[in-house]
Amino acid sequence: METLRQLLDKKGHEVWSIHQDDSVFDAIKKMADKSIGALVVLVDDQIVGIITERHYARHVILEGKTSPKTPVRDIMTTPVVCTQTDKTIPECIAVMSEKRIRHLPVVDQKQLVGLVSIGDLIKSTIADQEFTIEQLVHYIQG
Ligand SMILES: NC(=O)c1ccc[n+]([C@@H]2O[C@H](COP(=O)([O-])OP(=O)(O)OC[C@H]3O[C@@H](n4cnc5c(N)ncnc54)[C@H](O)[C@@H]3O)[C@@H](O)[C@H]2O)c1
Repeated sequence: METLRQLLDKKGHEVWSIHQDDSVFDAIKKMADKSIGALVVLVDDQIVGIITERHYARHVILEGKTSPKTPVRDIMTTPVVCTQTDKTIPECIAVMSEKRIRHLPVVDQKQLVGLVSIGDLIKSTIADQEFTIEQLVHYIQG
């Protein structure tokens, strides 16, 4: 079964992040520029939070705040649920489902080494199932 280490080797280890004192506007702009839905919040290379498009919708727009005046630290989720490189994809889907989250930073020996989204995990699961089906078809057809 594929682990996150293998998934990240294919996806890449880059993690987009922001500082807690930056504005929510800057965070949303960075997410738009990179076509992503979440940023890890780092202070001195330590994970202190995570901010997503959902935070913006619920804690800025709905509460009548403005994104240039609201710092990331006011709406980020902290502490952050993280996972490790030796976890399997079904294990991570289970965590996301239980915690109702869509992004998981991946740590190895306390170092941030990647980030996976629910989209990454579903894409990988589908590819895995297609491979299994292909193998079974070959087996049946002899
Ligand atoms: N997962 C994918 O391969 C992928 C790629 C492009 C678009 N989409 C579309 O985007 C929507 C939501 O997708 P999602 O659940 O993958 O979430 P997402 O849009 O946040 O993630 C898109 C991709 O960016 C990566 N990503 C997100 N935040 C990151 C960060 N801070 N640092 C490094 N990488 C980061 C994810 O791992 C994923 O590969 C869906 O409509 C999906 O179809 C998904």
